Amino acid sequence: MAKAWGGAFDQATDPRVEKFTESISFDSRLATVDIRGSQAHARMLASVGLLTNAEAAAICGTLDDIGREIAAGQFAWKIELEDIHMHIESALIQRIGDVGRKLHTGRSRNDQVSTDLKLYVRDALASIDVLLQDLQQAFVDRSDADIDVVLPGYTHLQRAQPVMAVHYWLAYCEKFHRDRERVLDCLKRVNVLPLGAAALAGTSLPIDRHKTAELLGFPAVAANSLDVSSDRDFLAESIFTLSLIAVHLSGWAEEWILWCTTEFGFLKLPDAYTTGSSIMPQKRNPDVLELIRGKSARVIADVQQILTLIKGLPLAYNRDLQEDKLAFFDAYDTVFACLELAPAVVRRAALRVDTINARLEEGFLDATTLMEYLITQGVPMRTGHEVVGQLVRLCESKGCKLAELPLAEMQQHCDKITADVSGYLGTANVVTRLSSYGSGGREPVRKQLEAWKLRLARH
Ligand code: ARG
Repeated sequence: MAKAWGGAFDQATDPRVEKFTESISFDSRLATVDIRGSQAHARMLASVGLLTNAEAAAICGTLDDIGREIAAGQFAWKIELEDIHMHIESALIQRIGDVGRKLHTGRSRNDQVSTDLKLYVRDALASIDVLLQDLQQAFVDRSDADIDVVLPGYTHLQRAQPVMAVHYWLAYCEKFHRDRERVLDCLKRVNVLPLGAAALAGTSLPIDRHKTAELLGFPAVAANSLDVSSDRDFLAESIFTLSLIAVHLSGWAEEWILWCTTEFGFLKLPDAYTTGSSIMPQKRNPDVLELIRGKSARVIADVQQILTLIKGLPLAYNRDLQEDKLAFFDAYDTVFACLELAPAVVRRAALRVDTINARLEEGFLDATTLMEYLITQGVPMRTGHEVVGQLVRLCESKGCKLAELPLAEMQQHCDKITADVSGYLGTANVVTRLSSYGSGGREPVRKQLEAWKLRLARH
Protein backbone atom coordinates (compact mmCIF):
# COMPACT_ATOMS: atom_id res chain seq x y z
CA MET A 1 0.00 0.00 0.00
CA ALA A 2 1.33 3.45 -0.91
CA LYS A 3 2.21 5.54 2.14
CA ALA A 4 0.79 9.02 2.58
CA TRP A 5 4.36 10.12 3.24
CA GLY A 6 5.99 7.87 0.58
CA GLY A 7 6.72 10.38 -2.21
CA ALA A 8 10.48 10.50 -1.62
CA PHE A 9 10.88 6.78 -0.89
CA ASP A 10 12.08 4.27 -3.45
CA GLN A 11 11.75 1.15 -1.27
CA ALA A 12 8.66 -0.35 0.33
CA THR A 13 8.65 -0.48 4.12
CA ASP A 14 9.82 -3.78 5.61
CA PRO A 15 6.70 -5.45 7.04
CA ARG A 16 8.53 -5.93 10.34
CA VAL A 17 9.06 -2.19 10.52
CA GLU A 18 5.35 -1.66 9.91
CA LYS A 19 4.58 -4.01 12.76
CA PHE A 20 7.14 -2.36 15.00
CA THR A 21 6.09 1.22 14.35
CA GLU A 22 2.31 0.87 14.28
CA SER A 23 0.18 2.43 16.99
CA ILE A 24 -3.27 1.58 15.65
CA SER A 25 -3.43 -1.34 18.08
CA PHE A 26 -3.69 1.15 20.93
CA ASP A 27 -4.57 4.54 19.46
CA SER A 28 -7.77 3.46 17.70
CA ARG A 29 -9.54 4.65 20.82
CA LEU A 30 -8.68 8.20 19.75
CA ALA A 31 -11.02 7.85 16.75
CA THR A 32 -13.82 10.02 18.10
CA VAL A 33 -11.55 12.86 19.20
CA ASP A 34 -9.49 12.60 15.99
CA ILE A 35 -12.66 13.18 13.99
CA ARG A 36 -13.76 16.02 16.23
CA GLY A 37 -10.35 17.68 15.81
CA SER A 38 -10.37 17.21 12.03
CA GLN A 39 -13.85 18.64 11.66
CA ALA A 40 -12.86 21.76 13.58
CA HIS A 41 -9.71 22.02 11.47
CA ALA A 42 -11.75 21.76 8.26
CA ARG A 43 -14.18 24.44 9.40
CA MET A 44 -11.29 26.70 10.30
CA LEU A 45 -9.72 26.10 6.86
CA ALA A 46 -13.02 27.11 5.27
CA SER A 47 -13.23 30.23 7.42
CA VAL A 48 -9.89 31.47 6.04
CA GLY A 49 -10.61 30.42 2.46
CA LEU A 50 -8.22 27.45 2.31
CA LEU A 51 -11.29 25.24 1.70
CA THR A 52 -14.66 26.17 0.24
CA ASN A 53 -17.65 25.78 2.52
CA ALA A 54 -18.84 22.92 0.31
CA GLU A 55 -15.49 21.15 0.66
CA ALA A 56 -15.52 21.55 4.44
CA ALA A 57 -19.08 20.26 4.57
CA ALA A 58 -18.16 17.21 2.47
CA ILE A 59 -15.17 16.50 4.74
CA CYS A 60 -17.18 16.88 7.96
CA GLY A 61 -20.08 14.78 6.71
CA THR A 62 -17.82 11.98 5.50
CA LEU A 63 -15.89 12.04 8.77
CA ASP A 64 -19.22 11.57 10.54
CA ASP A 65 -19.92 8.50 8.40
CA ILE A 66 -16.46 7.11 9.15
CA GLY A 67 -16.99 7.76 12.86
CA ARG A 68 -20.26 5.86 12.81
CA GLU A 69 -18.64 2.90 11.07
CA ILE A 70 -15.80 2.84 13.58
CA ALA A 71 -18.25 3.00 16.49
CA ALA A 72 -20.25 0.14 14.98
CA GLY A 73 -17.09 -1.98 14.65
CA GLN A 74 -17.41 -2.01 10.85
CA PHE A 75 -14.04 -0.46 10.19
CA ALA A 76 -10.99 -2.62 9.45
CA TRP A 77 -7.66 -1.66 11.01
CA LYS A 78 -4.53 -2.26 8.90
CA ILE A 79 -1.07 -1.99 10.37
CA GLU A 80 0.27 -0.59 7.07
CA LEU A 81 -1.77 2.51 7.88
CA GLU A 82 0.20 2.99 11.12
CA ASP A 83 -2.13 4.93 13.31
CA ILE A 84 -5.64 6.26 13.77
CA HIS A 85 -4.84 9.51 11.97
CA MET A 86 -3.76 7.77 8.76
CA HIS A 87 -6.70 5.37 8.89
CA ILE A 88 -9.25 8.12 9.06
CA GLU A 89 -7.55 10.34 6.52
CA SER A 90 -7.12 7.53 4.01
CA ALA A 91 -10.75 6.46 4.41
CA LEU A 92 -11.73 10.07 3.78
CA ILE A 93 -9.62 10.26 0.63
CA GLN A 94 -10.97 6.94 -0.58
CA ARG A 95 -14.49 8.32 -0.32
CA ILE A 96 -14.18 11.91 -1.51
CA GLY A 97 -10.87 11.93 -3.40
CA ASP A 98 -9.09 15.26 -3.86
CA VAL A 99 -11.29 17.13 -1.40
CA GLY A 100 -10.19 14.65 1.26
CA ARG A 101 -6.58 15.25 0.24
CA LYS A 102 -6.97 18.88 1.37
CA LEU A 103 -7.84 18.14 5.00
CA HIS A 104 -4.25 17.92 6.22
CA THR A 105 -3.53 21.48 5.01
CA GLY A 106 -1.69 23.54 7.65
CA ARG A 107 -1.29 20.75 10.17
CA SER A 108 0.83 17.66 10.76
CA ARG A 109 0.26 14.48 12.66
CA ASN A 110 2.43 15.93 15.41
CA ASP A 111 0.04 18.69 16.38
CA GLN A 112 -2.88 16.43 15.46
CA VAL A 113 -1.94 13.66 17.88
CA SER A 114 -1.30 16.14 20.65
CA THR A 115 -4.70 17.76 20.04
CA ASP A 116 -6.40 14.37 20.01
CA LEU A 117 -4.77 13.47 23.29
CA LYS A 118 -5.80 16.71 24.91
CA LEU A 119 -9.40 16.21 23.79
CA TYR A 120 -9.28 12.65 25.08
CA VAL A 121 -7.67 13.55 28.40
CA ARG A 122 -10.17 16.35 28.93
CA ASP A 123 -13.10 13.92 28.65
CA ALA A 124 -11.30 11.24 30.64
CA LEU A 125 -10.54 13.58 33.53
CA ALA A 126 -14.12 14.82 33.52
CA SER A 127 -15.35 11.25 33.94
CA ILE A 128 -12.84 10.63 36.75
CA ASP A 129 -14.18 13.72 38.48
CA VAL A 130 -17.74 12.38 38.29
CA LEU A 131 -16.65 9.05 39.74
CA LEU A 132 -14.73 10.74 42.54
CA GLN A 133 -17.80 12.73 43.46
CA ASP A 134 -19.85 9.54 43.53
CA LEU A 135 -17.34 7.98 45.90
CA GLN A 136 -17.46 11.01 48.17
CA GLN A 137 -21.23 10.82 48.04
CA ALA A 138 -21.09 7.15 49.06
CA PHE A 139 -19.16 8.05 52.21
CA VAL A 140 -21.53 10.91 52.99
CA ASP A 141 -24.61 8.81 52.27
CA ARG A 142 -23.71 6.22 54.87
CA SER A 143 -22.78 8.79 57.48
CA ASP A 144 -26.25 9.36 58.94
CA ALA A 145 -26.57 5.65 59.71
CA ASP A 146 -23.08 5.57 61.26
CA ILE A 147 -23.41 8.88 63.09
CA ASP A 148 -23.19 7.44 66.63
CA VAL A 149 -20.45 4.91 65.99
CA VAL A 150 -17.11 5.61 67.66
CA LEU A 151 -13.93 3.99 66.37
CA PRO A 152 -10.41 3.85 67.69
CA GLY A 153 -8.09 6.20 65.82
CA TYR A 154 -4.57 4.91 65.30
CA THR A 155 -1.09 6.25 64.95
CA HIS A 156 1.65 3.78 64.12
CA LEU A 157 -1.30 1.37 63.87
CA GLN A 158 -1.50 1.50 67.68
CA ARG A 159 -4.67 2.63 69.39
CA ALA A 160 -4.41 6.37 70.01
CA GLN A 161 -7.61 8.36 70.53
CA PRO A 162 -11.25 7.68 69.72
CA VAL A 163 -12.94 9.43 66.80
CA MET A 164 -16.39 9.28 65.30
CA ALA A 165 -16.61 6.70 62.49
CA VAL A 166 -17.85 9.49 60.25
CA HIS A 167 -14.55 11.28 60.85
CA TYR A 168 -12.93 8.41 58.93
CA TRP A 169 -15.46 8.70 56.11
CA LEU A 170 -14.95 12.43 55.78
CA ALA A 171 -11.17 12.02 55.89
CA TYR A 172 -11.49 10.15 52.60
CA CYS A 173 -13.82 12.82 51.24
CA GLU A 174 -11.07 15.37 51.92
CA LYS A 175 -8.46 13.33 50.07
CA PHE A 176 -10.73 12.86 47.07
CA HIS A 177 -11.56 16.55 47.18
CA ARG A 178 -7.89 17.40 46.75
CA ASP A 179 -7.76 14.87 43.92
CA ARG A 180 -10.63 16.66 42.25
CA GLU A 181 -8.89 19.99 42.66
CA ARG A 182 -5.81 18.50 41.01
CA VAL A 183 -7.95 17.20 38.14
CA LEU A 184 -9.35 20.69 37.62
CA ASP A 185 -5.90 22.20 37.79
CA CYS A 186 -4.54 19.75 35.18
CA LEU A 187 -7.33 20.79 32.88
CA LYS A 188 -5.90 24.31 32.74
CA ARG A 189 -2.83 22.97 30.93
CA VAL A 190 -4.80 20.41 28.94
CA ASN A 191 -7.01 23.18 27.58
CA VAL A 192 -4.33 24.90 25.50
CA LEU A 193 -4.68 24.17 21.78
CA PRO A 194 -1.67 22.63 19.99
CA LEU A 195 -3.29 22.38 16.53
CA GLY A 196 -1.69 24.63 13.94
CA ALA A 197 1.79 24.20 15.36
CA ALA A 198 2.00 21.89 12.35
CA ALA A 199 5.15 19.76 12.28
CA LEU A 200 7.15 22.02 14.59
CA ALA A 201 7.44 25.50 13.08
CA GLY A 202 3.90 26.56 12.32
CA THR A 203 2.93 27.29 8.73
CA SER A 204 3.15 29.93 6.02
CA LEU A 205 -0.55 29.41 5.28
CA PRO A 206 -3.05 31.91 6.72
CA ILE A 207 -4.62 29.57 9.30
CA ASP A 208 -6.62 30.90 12.24
CA ARG A 209 -5.70 28.92 15.33
CA HIS A 210 -7.93 30.98 17.57
CA LYS A 211 -10.88 29.95 15.43
CA THR A 212 -9.95 26.25 15.82
CA ALA A 213 -9.55 26.78 19.56
CA GLU A 214 -12.99 28.31 19.74
CA LEU A 215 -14.52 25.42 17.77
CA LEU A 216 -12.91 22.84 20.04
CA GLY A 217 -13.59 24.69 23.28
CA PHE A 218 -9.95 25.47 24.11
CA PRO A 219 -9.73 28.76 26.02
CA ALA A 220 -6.09 29.26 24.99
CA VAL A 221 -3.77 28.64 22.04
CA ALA A 222 -0.22 27.35 22.52
CA ALA A 223 2.13 30.27 21.84
CA ASN A 224 5.26 28.35 20.81
CA SER A 225 5.07 25.74 18.10
CA LEU A 226 8.38 24.10 19.11
CA ASP A 227 7.34 23.79 22.72
CA VAL A 228 3.89 22.43 22.12
CA SER A 229 5.07 19.84 19.59
CA SER A 230 6.96 18.06 22.33
CA ASP A 231 4.87 19.07 25.34
CA ARG A 232 3.54 16.11 27.28
CA ASP A 233 3.50 17.87 30.66
CA PHE A 234 -0.28 17.65 30.62
CA LEU A 235 -0.06 13.88 30.31
CA ALA A 236 2.58 13.53 33.00
CA GLU A 237 0.59 15.57 35.49
CA SER A 238 -2.67 13.85 34.58
CA ILE A 239 -1.06 10.46 35.15
CA PHE A 240 0.42 11.68 38.43
CA THR A 241 -3.00 12.93 39.48
CA LEU A 242 -4.42 9.50 38.64
CA SER A 243 -1.61 7.85 40.59
CA LEU A 244 -2.40 9.86 43.70
CA ILE A 245 -6.05 8.83 43.39
CA ALA A 246 -4.86 5.23 43.13
CA VAL A 247 -2.69 5.70 46.19
CA HIS A 248 -5.60 7.15 48.15
CA LEU A 249 -7.78 4.23 47.11
CA SER A 250 -5.02 1.84 48.05
CA GLY A 251 -4.73 3.28 51.57
CA TRP A 252 -8.47 3.06 52.04
CA ALA A 253 -8.52 -0.51 50.72
CA GLU A 254 -5.73 -1.54 53.07
CA GLU A 255 -7.52 -0.01 56.04
CA TRP A 256 -10.74 -1.83 55.24
CA ILE A 257 -8.90 -5.10 54.59
CA LEU A 258 -7.48 -4.81 58.11
CA TRP A 259 -10.90 -3.93 59.49
CA CYS A 260 -12.34 -7.11 57.94
CA THR A 261 -9.91 -9.38 59.76
CA THR A 262 -11.01 -11.40 62.78
CA GLU A 263 -8.35 -9.46 64.70
CA PHE A 264 -10.03 -6.11 64.05
CA GLY A 265 -13.57 -7.24 63.39
CA PHE A 266 -14.82 -3.74 62.55
CA LEU A 267 -16.35 -4.37 59.16
CA LYS A 268 -18.28 -6.89 57.13
CA LEU A 269 -18.08 -6.65 53.36
CA PRO A 270 -21.13 -7.59 51.31
CA ASP A 271 -20.91 -11.10 49.80
CA ALA A 272 -21.25 -9.63 46.32
CA TYR A 273 -17.86 -7.95 46.80
CA THR A 274 -15.92 -10.82 48.31
CA THR A 275 -14.85 -14.18 46.95
CA GLY A 276 -14.38 -17.60 48.48
CA SER A 277 -11.44 -19.94 48.73
CA SER A 278 -11.23 -23.12 46.65
CA ILE A 279 -10.08 -25.14 49.67
CA MET A 280 -11.13 -23.31 52.86
CA PRO A 281 -14.93 -23.27 52.99
CA GLN A 282 -15.19 -20.60 55.69
CA LYS A 283 -13.21 -17.94 53.78
CA ARG A 284 -14.55 -14.61 52.56
CA ASN A 285 -11.72 -12.80 50.92
CA PRO A 286 -11.67 -9.05 50.28
CA ASP A 287 -10.32 -9.50 46.73
CA VAL A 288 -11.87 -6.34 45.36
CA LEU A 289 -10.12 -4.27 48.01
CA GLU A 290 -6.90 -6.22 47.57
CA LEU A 291 -6.94 -5.58 43.83
CA ILE A 292 -7.71 -1.90 44.31
CA ARG A 293 -4.63 -1.84 46.54
CA GLY A 294 -2.63 -3.93 44.06
CA LYS A 295 -3.61 -2.06 40.92
CA SER A 296 -2.18 1.16 42.32
CA ALA A 297 1.22 -0.37 41.48
CA ARG A 298 0.59 -0.11 37.75
CA VAL A 299 -0.62 3.47 37.96
CA ILE A 300 2.48 4.42 39.93
CA ALA A 301 4.55 2.64 37.27
CA ASP A 302 2.75 4.65 34.57
CA VAL A 303 4.14 7.84 36.15
CA GLN A 304 7.65 6.42 35.85
CA GLN A 305 6.93 5.42 32.26
CA ILE A 306 5.80 8.82 31.05
CA LEU A 307 8.57 10.71 32.85
CA THR A 308 11.24 8.34 31.58
CA LEU A 309 9.77 8.62 28.09
CA ILE A 310 9.98 12.42 27.92
CA LYS A 311 13.21 12.80 29.85
CA GLY A 312 16.05 13.85 27.57
CA LEU A 313 13.98 14.30 24.40
CA PRO A 314 15.23 17.18 22.26
CA LEU A 315 12.71 19.59 20.78
CA ALA A 316 10.34 18.97 19.05
CA TYR A 317 8.30 15.85 18.11
CA ASN A 318 10.14 12.53 18.44
CA ARG A 319 8.59 9.19 17.67
CA ASP A 320 9.20 8.07 21.25
CA LEU A 321 6.15 10.14 22.09
CA GLN A 322 3.92 7.59 20.39
CA GLU A 323 4.32 5.46 23.53
CA ASP A 324 2.83 8.19 25.74
CA LYS A 325 -0.68 6.90 25.19
CA LEU A 326 0.11 3.53 26.72
CA ALA A 327 0.91 5.10 30.06
CA PHE A 328 -2.14 7.34 30.07
CA PHE A 329 -4.64 4.73 28.89
CA ASP A 330 -3.38 2.25 31.44
CA ALA A 331 -3.53 4.73 34.31
CA TYR A 332 -6.95 5.95 33.26
CA ASP A 333 -8.47 2.51 32.70
CA THR A 334 -7.11 1.23 35.99
CA VAL A 335 -8.29 4.15 38.10
CA PHE A 336 -11.63 4.20 36.28
CA ALA A 337 -12.20 0.51 37.06
CA CYS A 338 -11.33 1.01 40.74
CA LEU A 339 -13.53 4.08 41.04
CA GLU A 340 -16.43 2.29 39.39
CA LEU A 341 -16.46 -0.39 42.09
CA ALA A 342 -15.42 1.54 45.18
CA PRO A 343 -18.69 3.43 45.83
CA ALA A 344 -20.71 0.21 45.93
CA VAL A 345 -18.29 -1.30 48.45
CA VAL A 346 -18.50 1.84 50.57
CA ARG A 347 -22.27 1.91 50.45
CA ARG A 348 -22.82 -1.75 51.24
CA ALA A 349 -20.16 -2.61 53.83
CA ALA A 350 -21.51 -2.88 57.39
CA LEU A 351 -19.78 -1.68 60.54
CA ARG A 352 -19.84 -4.41 63.19
CA VAL A 353 -20.82 -2.07 65.98
CA ASP A 354 -21.06 -4.79 68.68
CA THR A 355 -17.55 -6.06 68.02
CA ILE A 356 -16.22 -2.52 67.85
CA ASN A 357 -17.89 -1.52 71.13
CA ALA A 358 -16.85 -4.70 72.93
CA ARG A 359 -13.21 -3.56 72.76
CA LEU A 360 -13.56 0.20 72.51
CA GLU A 361 -12.40 0.81 76.06
CA GLU A 362 -9.17 -1.10 75.47
CA GLY A 363 -5.93 0.71 74.69
CA PHE A 364 -6.35 3.79 76.91
CA LEU A 365 -7.97 5.87 74.18
CA ASP A 366 -8.90 8.41 76.88
CA ALA A 367 -5.34 8.98 78.16
CA THR A 368 -4.73 12.13 76.11
CA THR A 369 -8.03 13.72 77.16
CA LEU A 370 -7.18 12.92 80.80
CA MET A 371 -3.91 14.77 80.31
CA GLU A 372 -5.85 17.70 78.83
CA TYR A 373 -8.12 17.63 81.88
CA LEU A 374 -5.01 18.06 84.04
CA ILE A 375 -3.97 21.01 81.89
CA THR A 376 -7.34 22.66 82.57
CA GLN A 377 -6.66 22.06 86.28
CA GLY A 378 -3.48 24.12 86.00
CA VAL A 379 -0.98 21.26 85.60
CA PRO A 380 1.77 22.00 83.05
CA MET A 381 1.39 19.81 79.96
CA ARG A 382 4.66 17.87 80.40
CA THR A 383 3.80 17.16 84.04
CA GLY A 384 0.32 16.05 83.04
CA HIS A 385 1.82 13.73 80.45
CA GLU A 386 4.04 12.20 83.12
CA VAL A 387 1.17 11.78 85.58
CA VAL A 388 -1.10 10.08 83.05
CA GLY A 389 1.81 7.85 82.02
CA GLN A 390 2.10 6.71 85.62
CA LEU A 391 -1.64 6.14 85.86
CA VAL A 392 -1.58 4.04 82.68
CA ARG A 393 1.23 1.96 84.18
CA LEU A 394 -0.81 1.52 87.33
CA CYS A 395 -3.82 0.37 85.27
CA GLU A 396 -1.65 -2.07 83.34
CA SER A 397 -0.38 -3.61 86.55
CA LYS A 398 -3.89 -3.88 87.94
CA GLY A 399 -5.47 -4.94 84.65
CA CYS A 400 -8.04 -2.13 84.70
CA LYS A 401 -9.07 0.95 82.69
CA LEU A 402 -8.36 4.57 83.66
CA ALA A 403 -12.09 5.04 84.35
CA GLU A 404 -11.95 2.21 86.88
CA LEU A 405 -9.19 3.71 89.07
CA PRO A 406 -10.52 4.90 92.43
CA LEU A 407 -10.39 8.71 92.77
CA ALA A 408 -8.18 8.52 95.88
CA GLU A 409 -5.60 6.47 94.05
CA MET A 410 -5.51 9.00 91.21
CA GLN A 411 -5.13 11.84 93.69
CA GLN A 412 -2.06 10.14 95.14
CA HIS A 413 -0.42 10.81 91.77
CA CYS A 414 -1.76 14.33 91.36
CA ASP A 415 -3.64 16.38 93.96
CA LYS A 416 -5.21 18.57 91.25
CA ILE A 417 -7.54 15.72 90.25
CA THR A 418 -11.10 16.13 91.51
CA ALA A 419 -14.30 14.10 91.16
CA ASP A 420 -15.24 15.77 87.85
CA VAL A 421 -12.41 13.79 86.19
CA SER A 422 -14.93 11.03 85.55
CA GLY A 423 -16.46 13.24 82.84
CA TYR A 424 -13.22 12.98 80.84
CA LEU A 425 -12.75 9.23 80.99
CA GLY A 426 -14.13 6.57 78.66
CA THR A 427 -14.44 6.96 74.91
CA ALA A 428 -18.02 8.28 75.05
CA ASN A 429 -16.87 11.22 77.15
CA VAL A 430 -13.79 11.77 75.04
CA VAL A 431 -15.73 12.17 71.79
CA THR A 432 -17.99 14.76 73.38
CA ARG A 433 -14.91 16.64 74.62
CA LEU A 434 -13.02 16.72 71.31
CA SER A 435 -14.20 20.10 70.12
CA SER A 436 -11.47 21.91 68.19
CA TYR A 437 -12.16 22.76 64.56
CA GLY A 438 -11.56 19.70 62.38
CA SER A 439 -11.31 17.28 65.29
CA GLY A 440 -12.89 13.83 65.47
CA GLY A 441 -15.40 14.62 68.22
CA ARG A 442 -19.15 14.35 67.93
CA GLU A 443 -20.00 18.01 67.31
CA PRO A 444 -17.18 19.03 64.95
CA VAL A 445 -17.83 15.89 62.90
CA ARG A 446 -21.55 16.65 62.71
CA LYS A 447 -20.73 20.12 61.42
CA GLN A 448 -18.30 18.75 58.85
CA LEU A 449 -20.91 16.26 57.69
CA GLU A 450 -23.42 19.05 57.12
CA ALA A 451 -20.78 21.01 55.22
CA TRP A 452 -20.01 17.99 53.03
CA LYS A 453 -23.67 17.37 52.27
CA LEU A 454 -23.99 20.96 51.05
CA ARG A 455 -20.74 20.90 49.14
CA LEU A 456 -21.67 17.73 47.23
CA ALA A 457 -25.22 18.92 46.57
CA ARG A 458 -23.87 22.14 45.05
CA HIS A 459 -21.66 20.31 42.50
N1 ARG B 1 1.32 7.68 15.75
C1 ARG B 1 2.08 8.84 16.04
C2 ARG B 1 2.04 9.13 17.55
O1 ARG B 1 1.20 8.60 18.18
C3 ARG B 1 1.51 10.01 15.33
C4 ARG B 1 2.49 11.09 15.03
C5 ARG B 1 3.43 10.62 14.00
N2 ARG B 1 4.23 11.67 13.52
C6 ARG B 1 5.24 11.40 12.71
N3 ARG B 1 5.94 12.39 12.32
N4 ARG B 1 5.56 10.18 12.39
O2 ARG B 1 2.84 9.87 18.07
